[in-house]
Amino acid sequence: MIEKINRLREEIEALTAAKAEEVENLRIKYLSKKGEISQLFNDFRNVAAESKREMGQRLNELKELATEKINALREQVSEQAEADNTIDLTRTAYPVALGTRHPISLVRNEICDIFGRLGFSIAEGPEVEDDWHVFSALNFAEDHPARDMQDTFFIQRSPDVLLRTHTSSVQTRVMEHAQPPIRIICPGRVYRNEAISARAHCFFHQVEALYIDKNVTFADLKQALLFFAKEMFGPETKIRLRPSYFPFTEPSAEMDISCDLCGGKGCSFCKHTGWVEILGCGMVDPNVLDACGIDSKVYTGYALGMGIERITNLKYRVKDLRLFSENDQRFLEEFESAH
Ligand code: DAH
Repeated sequence: MIEKINRLREEIEALTAAKAEEVENLRIKYLSKKGEISQLFNDFRNVAAESKREMGQRLNELKELATEKINALREQVSEQAEADNTIDLTRTAYPVALGTRHPISLVRNEICDIFGRLGFSIAEGPEVEDDWHVFSALNFAEDHPARDMQDTFFIQRSPDVLLRTHTSSVQTRVMEHAQPPIRIICPGRVYRNEAISARAHCFFHQVEALYIDKNVTFADLKQALLFFAKEMFGPETKIRLRPSYFPFTEPSAEMDISCDLCGGKGCSFCKHTGWVEILGCGMVDPNVLDACGIDSKVYTGYALGMGIERITNLKYRVKDLRLFSENDQRFLEEFESAH
């Protein structure tokens, strides 16, 4: 019997298990009612009286050893299973902190989207330009004040290399290379040599629209403007056109929309006029068409241009232009829900 006890001790000490099932089988093998250790307890009855004490002690120790070993194995196996299960595919995901679109991008996209629905496609051009594309081709007189150092950032003089002061330069570039029908919308950044304040900045953003075809009239322009105003500012919006002057359009106009803050009744926002100015527009001057290689006797067109910051101010009441370029997260996060 003593030999059997020793053999079992060695066997039990060397036990290993990888799964809960294996541990359970070991328990059955050694410790269940018909298990090997229980068998030994049965045999104990036949042990000679003088050895009973020692043998009993050894048997108890063996049972204790087996119980401890099996419990230890059970714990080890369940820890392992837990470690294997650390990827819980049913758990809801941690929230991912998403960035927000810049308000200028939101409004630019919205403007492009509205004109897109009228069949306009996006055209882009360089920010570093030459005099021809920004001024001369657009019918600016040689002595026009916009050419002055006051307004324009020149990178180089004669030949002039400059930062574009408006996105009308993209008109020039498209007309040079395409024949009508032309229907483009040109979003982009522009630069002017201005002192930075709440109301002016040395760079800002514009969207230009150009439509050239046979028989394009001022009525087409008005229709597009009204559609845009209602889509952008709501179906109740009214528009009015005031005569104006731009070198590249004739006739030219500035468009106002009814003040959506007071509904046109007059408030401090609209300086008690009931109207706020939002863009410039007009019929493309025949000189511009000819300068860009489009026959002004065959084609006519309209153009319009607006500042994205201005539209954003009207839509979201941003009072200080500098907020658009300071990247203050508290400001940017306000536009989270505008997506
Ligand atoms: N380029 C003008 C500006 O920067 C805006 C503008 C006015 C564009 C009238 C146009 C237009 O196309 O027809 O102030």
